[in-house]
Amino acid sequence: MNCVERLVEIFGTQADVARAFQLDRAVVHHWIKTGYVPARWAGEVERVTQGRIHAMEIIHEASVKNPVRVKSRPEDAPFGIYPESDPMTQFAPTKRIQSFHPPQRTLMGPGPTEIHPRVLTTMSQPAIGYLDPVFVEMMEELKSLLRYAYQTKNPLTFPLSGPGSVGMEYCFVNMVAPGDKAIICQNGVFGGRMLENAVRCGGVPVVIEDKWGEPIDPQKLEDALKKNPDAKVVAFVHAETSTGCQSDAKLLTQIAHKHGALVIVDAVTSLGGSPVKVDEWDIDAIYSASQKCLSCTPGLSPVSFSERVVEHVKKRKDKIHSWFMDMNLLLGYWNAGTRTYHHTAPTNALFALHEALLLIREEGLENSWARHMRHHFALKAGLEAMGLKFLVKEQYQLPQMNAVLCPERVNEEEVRRRLLADFGLEIGAGLGPLKGKIWRFGLMGYSCRPDNVMLCLSALGSVLADMGLPVHVGDAEAAAHGAYAQMHVKDAQRKKRAA
Ligand SMILES: Cc1ncc(COP(=O)(O)O)c(C=O)c1O
Repeated sequence: MNCVERLVEIFGTQADVARAFQLDRAVVHHWIKTGYVPARWAGEVERVTQGRIHAMEIIHEASVKNPVRVKSRPEDAPFGIYPESDPMTQFAPTKRIQSFHPPQRTLMGPGPTEIHPRVLTTMSQPAIGYLDPVFVEMMEELKSLLRYAYQTKNPLTFPLSGPGSVGMEYCFVNMVAPGDKAIICQNGVFGGRMLENAVRCGGVPVVIEDKWGEPIDPQKLEDALKKNPDAKVVAFVHAETSTGCQSDAKLLTQIAHKHGALVIVDAVTSLGGSPVKVDEWDIDAIYSASQKCLSCTPGLSPVSFSERVVEHVKKRKDKIHSWFMDMNLLLGYWNAGTRTYHHTAPTNALFALHEALLLIREEGLENSWARHMRHHFALKAGLEAMGLKFLVKEQYQLPQMNAVLCPERVNEEEVRRRLLADFGLEIGAGLGPLKGKIWRFGLMGYSCRPDNVMLCLSALGSVLADMGLPVHVGDAEAAAHGAYAQMHVKDAQRKKRAA
Protein backbone atom coordinates (compact mmCIF):
# COMPACT_ATOMS: atom_id res chain seq x y z
CA MET A 1 0.00 0.00 0.00
CA ASN A 2 1.50 3.38 -0.93
CA CYS A 3 1.36 6.46 1.30
CA VAL A 4 -1.64 8.00 -0.50
CA GLU A 5 -3.65 4.80 -0.03
CA ARG A 6 -2.63 4.78 3.63
CA LEU A 7 -3.85 8.38 3.96
CA VAL A 8 -7.26 7.40 2.57
CA GLU A 9 -7.34 4.44 4.95
CA ILE A 10 -6.53 6.68 7.92
CA PHE A 11 -9.01 9.44 7.10
CA GLY A 12 -11.80 7.43 5.41
CA THR A 13 -12.27 8.92 1.94
CA GLN A 14 -10.41 11.15 -0.52
CA ALA A 15 -12.69 14.00 0.55
CA ASP A 16 -11.71 13.45 4.19
CA VAL A 17 -8.02 13.55 3.27
CA ALA A 18 -8.63 16.82 1.41
CA ARG A 19 -10.39 18.24 4.46
CA ALA A 20 -7.63 17.16 6.84
CA PHE A 21 -5.02 18.96 4.71
CA GLN A 22 -7.26 21.95 3.83
CA LEU A 23 -6.91 21.04 0.17
CA ASP A 24 -9.03 20.88 -2.90
CA ARG A 25 -10.22 17.33 -3.62
CA ALA A 26 -8.66 17.55 -7.09
CA VAL A 27 -5.20 17.70 -5.49
CA VAL A 28 -5.78 14.51 -3.50
CA HIS A 29 -7.25 12.88 -6.60
CA HIS A 30 -4.03 13.78 -8.44
CA TRP A 31 -1.95 12.14 -5.69
CA ILE A 32 -4.05 8.96 -6.06
CA LYS A 33 -3.58 9.02 -9.84
CA THR A 34 0.19 9.49 -9.69
CA GLY A 35 0.57 7.15 -6.72
CA TYR A 36 2.63 9.45 -4.52
CA VAL A 37 2.46 12.57 -2.34
CA PRO A 38 4.89 15.32 -3.46
CA ALA A 39 7.92 15.58 -1.17
CA ARG A 40 7.11 19.14 -0.04
CA TRP A 41 4.12 17.72 1.88
CA ALA A 42 6.33 15.34 3.90
CA GLY A 43 6.42 17.36 7.14
CA GLU A 44 2.71 18.17 6.98
CA VAL A 45 1.74 14.52 6.41
CA GLU A 46 3.77 13.48 9.45
CA ARG A 47 2.12 16.21 11.51
CA VAL A 48 -1.47 15.67 10.38
CA THR A 49 -1.23 11.87 10.72
CA GLN A 50 0.48 12.35 14.10
CA GLY A 51 3.48 10.33 12.97
CA ARG A 52 1.55 7.38 11.54
CA ILE A 53 3.14 8.20 8.21
CA HIS A 54 6.68 9.50 8.55
CA ALA A 55 8.03 12.41 6.52
CA MET A 56 10.89 10.21 5.31
CA GLU A 57 8.45 7.67 3.86
CA ILE A 58 6.85 10.43 1.78
CA ILE A 59 10.22 11.77 0.65
CA HIS A 60 11.48 8.32 -0.24
CA GLU A 61 8.35 7.38 -2.19
CA ALA A 62 8.31 10.73 -4.02
CA SER A 63 11.96 10.45 -4.98
CA VAL A 64 11.44 6.93 -6.38
CA LYS A 65 8.30 7.86 -8.34
CA ASN A 66 9.51 11.24 -9.46
CA PRO A 67 13.30 11.46 -9.28
CA VAL A 68 14.80 14.89 -9.77
CA ARG A 69 16.87 14.73 -12.92
CA VAL A 70 18.79 17.87 -13.70
CA LYS A 71 21.22 17.78 -16.52
CA SER A 72 22.98 21.10 -16.70
CA ARG A 73 25.29 20.08 -19.56
CA PRO A 74 24.27 17.89 -22.48
CA GLU A 75 26.44 14.81 -22.96
CA ASP A 76 26.28 15.23 -26.70
CA ALA A 77 25.38 18.34 -28.55
CA PRO A 78 24.26 17.33 -32.05
CA PHE A 79 23.26 20.86 -33.03
CA GLY A 80 25.69 22.82 -30.96
CA ILE A 81 29.15 22.94 -29.54
CA TYR A 82 30.72 20.01 -27.70
CA PRO A 83 31.26 20.92 -24.03
CA GLU A 84 35.01 20.36 -24.17
CA SER A 85 35.42 22.78 -27.07
CA ASP A 86 32.91 25.31 -25.70
CA PRO A 87 34.78 28.62 -25.26
CA MET A 88 32.30 29.60 -22.52
CA THR A 89 33.48 26.69 -20.34
CA GLN A 90 36.44 28.66 -19.07
CA PHE A 91 33.94 30.71 -17.04
CA ALA A 92 32.04 27.69 -15.68
CA PRO A 93 32.54 26.72 -12.03
CA THR A 94 35.19 24.06 -11.57
CA LYS A 95 33.16 22.32 -8.85
CA ARG A 96 30.39 20.02 -10.09
CA ILE A 97 27.22 21.74 -8.85
CA GLN A 98 24.05 19.76 -8.11
CA SER A 99 20.49 21.05 -7.80
CA PHE A 100 19.95 22.65 -4.41
CA HIS A 101 17.73 20.82 -1.91
CA PRO A 102 17.48 22.64 1.42
CA PRO A 103 17.15 20.45 4.52
CA GLN A 104 13.92 20.30 6.51
CA ARG A 105 14.24 22.76 9.42
CA THR A 106 12.06 23.87 12.28
CA LEU A 107 12.21 27.65 12.08
CA MET A 108 11.76 29.35 15.44
CA GLY A 109 13.97 32.37 14.97
CA PRO A 110 13.03 35.97 14.18
CA GLY A 111 11.94 35.02 10.63
CA PRO A 112 11.73 33.66 8.04
CA THR A 113 9.17 31.17 9.29
CA GLU A 114 8.15 27.81 7.93
CA ILE A 115 5.82 28.06 4.96
CA HIS A 116 2.51 26.21 4.76
CA PRO A 117 2.58 23.52 2.02
CA ARG A 118 -0.44 25.14 0.39
CA VAL A 119 1.61 28.32 -0.06
CA LEU A 120 4.57 26.36 -1.45
CA THR A 121 2.29 24.54 -3.89
CA THR A 122 0.74 27.79 -5.05
CA MET A 123 4.14 29.35 -5.56
CA SER A 124 5.19 26.54 -7.90
CA GLN A 125 2.32 27.16 -10.34
CA PRO A 126 3.21 28.20 -13.90
CA ALA A 127 4.33 31.79 -14.36
CA ILE A 128 1.93 34.22 -16.02
CA GLY A 129 2.37 37.80 -17.16
CA TYR A 130 1.89 40.59 -14.66
CA LEU A 131 -0.72 42.23 -16.91
CA ASP A 132 -2.56 38.97 -17.65
CA PRO A 133 -6.25 39.54 -16.80
CA VAL A 134 -6.18 36.50 -14.49
CA PHE A 135 -3.22 37.95 -12.61
CA VAL A 136 -4.88 41.36 -12.43
CA GLU A 137 -7.96 39.77 -10.87
CA MET A 138 -5.72 37.99 -8.33
CA MET A 139 -4.09 41.34 -7.46
CA GLU A 140 -7.47 42.81 -6.58
CA GLU A 141 -8.21 39.84 -4.29
CA LEU A 142 -4.76 40.18 -2.77
CA LYS A 143 -5.36 43.85 -1.96
CA SER A 144 -8.70 43.04 -0.29
CA LEU A 145 -7.10 40.23 1.74
CA LEU A 146 -4.40 42.66 2.85
CA ARG A 147 -7.03 45.18 3.90
CA TYR A 148 -8.51 42.44 6.06
CA ALA A 149 -5.12 41.64 7.62
CA TYR A 150 -4.49 45.33 8.32
CA GLN A 151 -8.14 45.97 9.32
CA THR A 152 -8.45 48.93 7.01
CA LYS A 153 -10.49 50.31 4.16
CA ASN A 154 -7.50 52.27 2.80
CA PRO A 155 -7.66 51.94 -1.02
CA LEU A 156 -3.86 52.25 -1.14
CA THR A 157 -3.03 48.88 0.43
CA PHE A 158 -0.78 46.59 -1.58
CA PRO A 159 2.46 44.57 -1.44
CA LEU A 160 5.71 46.24 -2.49
CA SER A 161 8.25 44.15 -4.39
CA GLY A 162 11.02 43.86 -1.83
CA PRO A 163 11.56 42.84 1.80
CA GLY A 164 10.41 44.74 4.89
CA SER A 165 13.36 47.13 4.53
CA VAL A 166 11.87 48.29 1.21
CA GLY A 167 8.56 49.00 2.95
CA MET A 168 10.42 51.08 5.54
CA GLU A 169 12.40 52.99 2.93
CA TYR A 170 9.29 53.56 0.78
CA CYS A 171 7.54 55.31 3.67
CA PHE A 172 10.50 57.58 4.42
CA VAL A 173 11.35 58.39 0.80
CA ASN A 174 7.79 59.48 0.09
CA MET A 175 6.90 61.14 3.38
CA VAL A 176 10.12 62.86 4.48
CA ALA A 177 11.37 65.63 2.19
CA PRO A 178 14.79 67.27 2.66
CA GLY A 179 14.61 69.59 5.68
CA ASP A 180 11.52 67.91 7.18
CA LYS A 181 11.70 67.26 10.91
CA ALA A 182 11.02 63.63 11.83
CA ILE A 183 10.76 62.22 15.36
CA ILE A 184 12.25 58.75 15.48
CA CYS A 185 11.52 56.49 18.45
CA GLN A 186 14.30 54.00 19.07
CA ASN A 187 14.17 51.04 21.46
CA GLY A 188 15.97 48.42 19.39
CA VAL A 189 17.68 47.63 16.09
CA PHE A 190 14.86 48.61 13.78
CA GLY A 191 14.23 52.05 15.25
CA GLY A 192 17.92 52.61 14.39
CA ARG A 193 17.21 51.65 10.78
CA MET A 194 14.37 54.21 10.70
CA LEU A 195 16.79 56.87 11.88
CA GLU A 196 19.22 55.92 9.11
CA ASN A 197 16.41 56.27 6.56
CA ALA A 198 15.32 59.68 7.87
CA VAL A 199 18.90 60.97 7.62
CA ARG A 200 19.40 59.58 4.11
CA CYS A 201 16.20 61.32 2.95
CA GLY A 202 17.67 64.65 4.08
CA GLY A 203 15.26 64.85 7.02
CA VAL A 204 16.11 66.48 10.34
CA PRO A 205 15.76 63.68 12.88
CA VAL A 206 14.89 64.11 16.54
CA VAL A 207 15.62 60.85 18.36
CA ILE A 208 13.74 59.57 21.40
CA GLU A 209 15.56 56.69 23.01
CA ASP A 210 14.25 54.00 25.29
CA LYS A 211 16.11 51.07 26.80
CA TRP A 212 16.30 47.94 24.64
CA GLY A 213 13.63 45.60 26.00
CA GLU A 214 11.34 48.45 27.11
CA PRO A 215 8.44 49.96 25.14
CA ILE A 216 8.50 53.44 23.67
CA ASP A 217 7.59 55.90 26.41
CA PRO A 218 4.51 57.94 25.32
CA GLN A 219 5.47 60.78 27.67
CA LYS A 220 8.84 61.18 25.95
CA LEU A 221 7.05 61.45 22.60
CA GLU A 222 4.63 64.05 23.99
CA ASP A 223 7.58 66.11 25.35
CA ALA A 224 9.51 65.85 22.08
CA LEU A 225 6.49 67.01 20.07
CA LYS A 226 5.96 69.96 22.42
CA LYS A 227 9.58 70.97 21.91
CA ASN A 228 9.38 70.40 18.14
CA PRO A 229 5.95 71.65 17.00
CA ASP A 230 7.21 71.71 13.40
CA ALA A 231 7.77 67.92 13.33
CA LYS A 232 6.04 66.48 10.28
CA VAL A 233 6.47 62.77 10.95
CA VAL A 234 6.70 60.40 13.94
CA ALA A 235 8.11 56.94 13.26
CA PHE A 236 8.16 53.91 15.55
CA VAL A 237 8.33 50.13 15.56
CA HIS A 238 5.19 48.46 16.87
CA ALA A 239 6.80 45.07 17.59
CA GLU A 240 10.58 45.34 18.10
CA THR A 241 11.92 42.02 16.80
CA SER A 242 15.35 42.56 18.31
CA THR A 243 13.93 42.53 21.87
CA GLY A 244 10.44 40.98 21.70
CA CYS A 245 8.86 44.16 23.05
CA GLN A 246 5.54 45.68 22.02
CA SER A 247 4.74 49.40 22.10
CA ASP A 248 1.31 51.01 22.25
CA ALA A 249 0.77 51.94 18.60
CA LYS A 250 -2.69 53.39 19.21
CA LEU A 251 -1.57 55.77 21.96
CA LEU A 252 1.61 56.86 20.14
CA THR A 253 -0.47 57.62 17.03
CA GLN A 254 -2.98 59.66 19.07
CA ILE A 255 -0.16 61.74 20.56
CA ALA A 256 1.43 62.35 17.14
CA HIS A 257 -1.92 63.44 15.64
CA LYS A 258 -2.61 65.80 18.56
CA HIS A 259 0.51 67.67 17.45
CA GLY A 260 -0.29 67.49 13.74
CA ALA A 261 2.34 64.89 12.75
CA LEU A 262 1.83 61.87 10.50
CA VAL A 263 2.91 58.44 11.76
CA ILE A 264 4.98 55.73 10.10
CA VAL A 265 4.47 52.38 11.84
CA ASP A 266 6.67 49.32 11.44
CA ALA A 267 4.40 46.27 11.71
CA VAL A 268 6.91 43.79 10.26
CA THR A 269 6.65 41.39 13.19
CA SER A 270 3.18 42.25 14.44
CA LEU A 271 0.98 41.83 11.35
CA GLY A 272 -1.00 38.58 11.58
CA GLY A 273 0.44 37.64 14.98
CA SER A 274 -1.04 40.30 17.24
CA PRO A 275 -3.67 43.03 16.78
CA VAL A 276 -2.89 45.70 14.18
CA LYS A 277 -5.93 47.90 13.56
CA VAL A 278 -5.03 50.53 11.02
CA ASP A 279 -8.42 52.28 10.80
CA GLU A 280 -9.35 52.08 14.47
CA TRP A 281 -5.92 53.36 15.51
CA ASP A 282 -5.94 55.95 12.70
CA ILE A 283 -2.49 54.99 11.42
CA ASP A 284 -1.22 56.99 8.43
CA ALA A 285 1.49 54.77 6.94
CA ILE A 286 2.32 51.19 7.83
CA TYR A 287 4.55 48.48 6.39
CA SER A 288 5.17 44.82 7.12
CA ALA A 289 7.01 41.85 5.58
CA SER A 290 5.83 38.58 4.07
CA GLN A 291 8.16 36.21 5.97
CA LYS A 292 7.06 36.74 9.58
CA CYS A 293 3.53 36.04 10.88
CA LEU A 294 2.17 35.88 7.32
CA SER A 295 4.44 32.84 6.76
CA CYS A 296 5.07 33.50 3.11
CA THR A 297 8.25 33.52 1.07
CA PRO A 298 10.49 36.51 1.98
CA GLY A 299 10.71 39.40 -0.43
CA LEU A 300 7.36 41.20 -0.26
CA SER A 301 6.39 44.14 1.90
CA PRO A 302 2.66 44.81 2.37
CA VAL A 303 1.98 48.51 2.92
CA SER A 304 -1.08 50.65 3.58
CA PHE A 305 -1.47 54.43 3.37
CA SER A 306 -4.29 56.73 4.44
CA GLU A 307 -5.69 59.43 2.17
CA ARG A 308 -3.78 61.95 4.34
CA VAL A 309 -0.50 60.42 3.23
CA VAL A 310 -1.52 60.34 -0.44
CA GLU A 311 -2.40 64.04 -0.25
CA HIS A 312 0.85 64.82 1.62
CA VAL A 313 2.92 63.11 -1.10
CA LYS A 314 0.96 64.71 -3.95
CA LYS A 315 1.59 68.15 -2.43
CA ARG A 316 5.36 67.70 -2.45
CA LYS A 317 7.01 70.28 -4.70
CA ASP A 318 10.34 68.47 -5.03
CA LYS A 319 10.88 65.36 -7.14
CA ILE A 320 11.00 62.20 -5.02
CA HIS A 321 14.62 61.14 -5.26
CA SER A 322 13.97 57.44 -5.96
CA TRP A 323 12.27 56.53 -9.21
CA PHE A 324 11.43 52.98 -8.08
CA MET A 325 9.96 54.14 -4.78
CA ASP A 326 7.96 57.13 -6.05
CA MET A 327 4.41 56.51 -4.78
CA ASN A 328 2.84 58.57 -7.56
CA LEU A 329 4.40 56.35 -10.23
CA LEU A 330 3.65 53.01 -8.59
CA LEU A 331 -0.03 53.97 -8.19
CA GLY A 332 -0.38 53.49 -11.95
CA TYR A 333 0.30 49.76 -11.61
CA TRP A 334 -1.50 48.88 -8.39
CA ASN A 335 -4.55 51.08 -9.05
CA ALA A 336 -7.41 49.01 -10.44
CA GLY A 337 -8.29 51.65 -13.06
CA THR A 338 -4.97 52.26 -14.79
CA ARG A 339 -2.72 49.18 -14.55
CA THR A 340 0.29 50.30 -16.58
CA TYR A 341 3.79 48.84 -16.53
CA HIS A 342 5.96 50.07 -13.67
CA HIS A 343 8.30 47.15 -12.98
CA THR A 344 8.04 43.39 -13.48
CA ALA A 345 6.04 42.17 -10.50
CA PRO A 346 7.34 39.02 -8.74
CA THR A 347 4.31 37.05 -9.89
CA ASN A 348 4.89 33.69 -8.20
CA ALA A 349 5.77 35.31 -4.89
CA LEU A 350 2.50 37.25 -5.15
CA PHE A 351 0.55 34.02 -5.79
CA ALA A 352 2.13 32.78 -2.57
CA LEU A 353 1.13 35.87 -0.59
CA HIS A 354 -2.43 35.51 -1.88
CA GLU A 355 -2.53 31.94 -0.52
CA ALA A 356 -0.85 32.88 2.79
CA LEU A 357 -3.42 35.63 3.37
CA LEU A 358 -6.23 33.31 2.34
CA LEU A 359 -5.10 30.90 5.07
CA ILE A 360 -5.36 33.74 7.60
CA ARG A 361 -8.78 34.69 6.26
CA GLU A 362 -9.93 31.07 6.61
CA GLU A 363 -8.55 30.79 10.14
CA GLY A 364 -9.91 34.21 11.12
CA LEU A 365 -7.62 37.04 12.19
CA GLU A 366 -8.71 36.92 15.83
CA ASN A 367 -8.16 33.17 15.92
CA SER A 368 -4.68 33.72 14.53
CA TRP A 369 -3.91 36.27 17.27
CA ALA A 370 -5.33 33.87 19.88
CA ARG A 371 -3.22 30.99 18.52
CA HIS A 372 -0.06 33.09 18.87
CA MET A 373 -1.02 33.88 22.47
CA ARG A 374 -1.84 30.26 23.32
CA HIS A 375 1.47 28.84 22.14
CA HIS A 376 3.39 31.76 23.65
CA PHE A 377 1.90 30.93 27.08
CA ALA A 378 2.89 27.27 26.72
CA LEU A 379 6.42 28.05 25.50
CA LYS A 380 6.85 30.60 28.25
CA ALA A 381 5.73 28.16 30.93
CA GLY A 382 8.27 25.62 29.66
CA LEU A 383 11.15 28.12 29.36
CA GLU A 384 10.48 29.49 32.84
CA ALA A 385 10.35 25.96 34.24
CA MET A 386 13.93 25.64 32.97
CA GLY A 387 14.82 28.71 35.02
CA LEU A 388 15.08 31.06 32.02
CA LYS A 389 14.04 34.69 32.45
CA PHE A 390 12.30 36.87 29.87
CA LEU A 391 14.03 40.10 28.82
CA VAL A 392 10.76 42.06 28.59
CA LYS A 393 8.20 42.73 31.34
CA GLU A 394 5.12 40.55 31.02
CA GLN A 395 2.67 43.24 29.85
CA TYR A 396 4.91 44.23 26.92
CA GLN A 397 5.91 40.73 25.79
CA LEU A 398 5.19 39.85 22.18
CA PRO A 399 3.65 36.39 21.80
CA GLN A 400 5.41 35.84 18.49
CA MET A 401 8.92 36.88 19.62
CA ASN A 402 10.15 35.52 22.96
CA ALA A 403 13.49 36.93 24.12
CA VAL A 404 15.06 35.21 27.14
CA LEU A 405 18.35 35.91 28.91
CA CYS A 406 21.03 33.27 28.36
CA PRO A 407 22.14 31.69 31.62
CA GLU A 408 25.62 32.71 32.73
CA ARG A 409 28.40 30.20 32.07
CA VAL A 410 26.68 28.98 28.90
CA ASN A 411 28.17 29.44 25.47
CA GLU A 412 25.05 30.77 23.77
CA GLU A 413 26.43 30.32 20.25
CA GLU A 414 27.27 26.68 20.95
CA VAL A 415 23.69 26.09 22.14
CA ARG A 416 22.27 27.46 18.89
CA ARG A 417 24.79 25.47 16.87
CA ARG A 418 23.79 22.23 18.59
CA LEU A 419 20.08 22.93 18.26
CA LEU A 420 20.55 23.32 14.52
CA ALA A 421 22.94 20.41 14.03
CA ASP A 422 21.22 17.86 16.31
CA PHE A 423 17.56 18.88 16.11
CA GLY A 424 17.27 20.88 12.87
CA LEU A 425 15.93 23.73 15.02
CA GLU A 426 16.77 27.36 14.31
CA ILE A 427 16.40 30.02 17.01
CA GLY A 428 17.62 33.62 16.97
CA ALA A 429 20.60 35.28 18.64
CA GLY A 430 20.77 38.69 20.30
CA LEU A 431 21.65 41.75 18.19
CA GLY A 432 23.68 44.89 18.99
CA PRO A 433 24.15 45.34 22.74
CA LEU A 434 22.17 42.11 23.35
CA LYS A 435 24.57 39.99 21.26
CA GLY A 436 25.60 36.94 23.28
CA LYS A 437 23.12 37.85 26.03
CA ILE A 438 19.74 36.62 24.78
CA TRP A 439 18.09 33.94 22.68
CA ARG A 440 15.05 34.82 20.61
CA PHE A 441 12.36 32.19 20.09
CA GLY A 442 10.00 33.04 17.27
CA LEU A 443 6.48 31.64 17.22
CA MET A 444 5.25 33.17 14.03
CA GLY A 445 2.57 32.16 11.55
CA TYR A 446 2.81 28.54 10.42
CA SER A 447 5.75 27.98 12.80
CA CYS A 448 3.45 28.80 15.72
CA ARG A 449 2.29 25.26 16.48
CA PRO A 450 2.22 22.99 19.55
CA ASP A 451 4.62 20.45 17.98
CA ASN A 452 7.20 23.22 17.54
CA VAL A 453 6.72 24.39 21.13
CA MET A 454 7.30 20.88 22.48
CA LEU A 455 10.26 20.17 20.17
CA CYS A 456 11.87 23.44 21.19
CA LEU A 457 11.51 22.73 24.91
CA SER A 458 12.82 19.19 24.74
CA ALA A 459 15.69 20.11 22.37
CA LEU A 460 16.79 23.14 24.38
CA GLY A 461 16.34 21.31 27.67
CA SER A 462 18.45 18.37 26.59
CA VAL A 463 21.23 20.58 25.17
CA LEU A 464 21.37 22.65 28.37
CA ALA A 465 21.28 19.55 30.59
CA ASP A 466 24.04 18.05 28.47
CA MET A 467 26.12 21.18 29.12
CA GLY A 468 25.77 20.63 32.84
CA LEU A 469 22.94 23.00 33.72
CA PRO A 470 20.45 21.83 36.37
CA VAL A 471 17.63 21.60 33.85
CA HIS A 472 14.95 18.88 33.78
CA VAL A 473 13.44 18.46 30.34
CA GLY A 474 10.45 16.65 31.80
CA ASP A 475 9.61 19.62 34.06
CA ALA A 476 9.66 22.02 31.12
CA GLU A 477 7.45 19.74 29.03
CA ALA A 478 5.06 19.21 31.93
CA ALA A 479 4.82 22.98 32.51
CA ALA A 480 3.92 23.53 28.84
CA HIS A 481 1.34 20.72 28.91
CA GLY A 482 -0.05 22.20 32.13
CA ALA A 483 -0.38 25.61 30.47
CA TYR A 484 -2.21 24.06 27.51
CA ALA A 485 -4.52 22.16 29.84
CA GLN A 486 -5.35 25.31 31.82
CA MET A 487 -6.16 27.18 28.62
CA HIS A 488 -8.43 24.33 27.46
CA VAL A 489 -10.33 24.45 30.74
CA LYS A 490 -10.72 28.24 30.56
CA ASP A 491 -11.86 27.98 26.96
CA ALA A 492 -14.44 25.32 27.81
CA GLN A 493 -15.76 27.45 30.70
CA ARG A 494 -15.97 30.51 28.44
CA LYS A 495 -17.90 28.53 25.79
CA LYS A 496 -20.24 27.15 28.44
CA ARG A 497 -20.97 30.65 29.76
CA ALA A 498 -21.60 31.94 26.24
CA ALA A 499 -24.02 29.06 25.42
C1 LIG B 1 10.79 45.17 13.04
C2 LIG B 1 11.48 44.95 11.74
N1 LIG B 1 11.52 45.94 10.85
C3 LIG B 1 12.13 45.78 9.65
C4 LIG B 1 12.73 44.60 9.29
C5 LIG B 1 13.40 44.45 7.96
O1 LIG B 1 12.71 43.47 7.21
P1 LIG B 1 13.46 42.64 6.06
O2 LIG B 1 14.51 41.82 6.71
O3 LIG B 1 12.35 41.82 5.46
O4 LIG B 1 14.02 43.63 5.12
C6 LIG B 1 12.73 43.54 10.20
C7 LIG B 1 13.39 42.27 9.89
O5 LIG B 1 13.54 41.38 10.68
C8 LIG B 1 12.08 43.71 11.44
O6 LIG B 1 12.04 42.72 12.34
